[in-house]
Amino acid sequence: MKLSEYAKHLLLASNLEDKLLPPSKHWDEEVEFNSIRIEKPNRDPKLQFSDRKIKIPRLEHLNLESNRGLTLHHFANHELMAIELFAWAILAFPDAPKSIRNGWIKTIGEEQIHLKMYINRMNDFGIQFGDLPLNYIFWKQLKQFNSLESFSAVMSLSFEGANLDYSQVYAKVFSYFGDQLTSDIMLYIFEDEVKHVKRGVRAFEKSIPGDKNSWEHYLSLIQFPFTPRRAKGYLYFPETRSLAGLDAKFTKELETYEDEYTGRVNLESVKKFGLGSGLMRKNRLDSQSNSD
Ligand SMILES: [Fe+2]
Ligand SMILES: [Fe+2]
Repeated sequence: MKLSEYAKHLLLASNLEDKLLPPSKHWDEEVEFNSIRIEKPNRDPKLQFSDRKIKIPRLEHLNLESNRGLTLHHFANHELMAIELFAWAILAFPDAPKSIRNGWIKTIGEEQIHLKMYINRMNDFGIQFGDLPLNYIFWKQLKQFNSLESFSAVMSLSFEGANLDYSQVYAKVFSYFGDQLTSDIMLYIFEDEVKHVKRGVRAFEKSIPGDKNSWEHYLSLIQFPFTPRRAKGYLYFPETRSLAGLDAKFTKELETYEDEYTGRVNLESVKKFGLGSGLMRKNRLDSQSNSD
């Protein structure tokens, strides 16, 4: 199979099992190098895009298994969109350097594992994937994806970056409620996402002009109303960004960034958990840091 055929398969096959087909180790030679921008993925009728707004359960309600399942459903949707959009990037940016493309392929394989982990665990809690409406927040950014740098700025530095904060928050809260298994899933995914952000940083940093720093370059790649607020959680763990290879200036600028939505999240309930700024780790990262 050619890599482009595999990417099309992930986007156009409608069965979930097809989207979970792991990437191959060997690809047939490509003969076509046209950029293809697929506007929308095919999906099972149960997994269609929806504009219905649903709220993610509050942290203090995660003592209930059903609420844990609904929360994982929300995260699983992100994984599905990530699989599709990294496949989208392979087709849209056929001239991307081989190292970047190989990173996207590895990321797809890892997002597939994350999706399966979330689905298995939500099933334990009586929730099936597709039971709730699925938003398409990542797909809504298609117009911003004009280059592989802007794609990396939005997908990896922003969405996957924010996920570093959220996976820490939820690992801590699930652990607080005595659900070590789900907490461990969050940490497994956290450590993969550190690698994903790192891959995005590599794709992005090569293009930083001499007269700009990484933060200014990032701002030039994202388009309003998308703002850096999307690149962090309501709690921010700056150490995670250093782990992912972002420089101190970027990490600090992101920390202090505010927009009109800042402060709308009620942090009182978050504070109750005394989450602290320390990181939970599985420490799978150190042994792998040179291999990707
Ligand atoms: Fe993921
Ligand atoms: Fe990811």
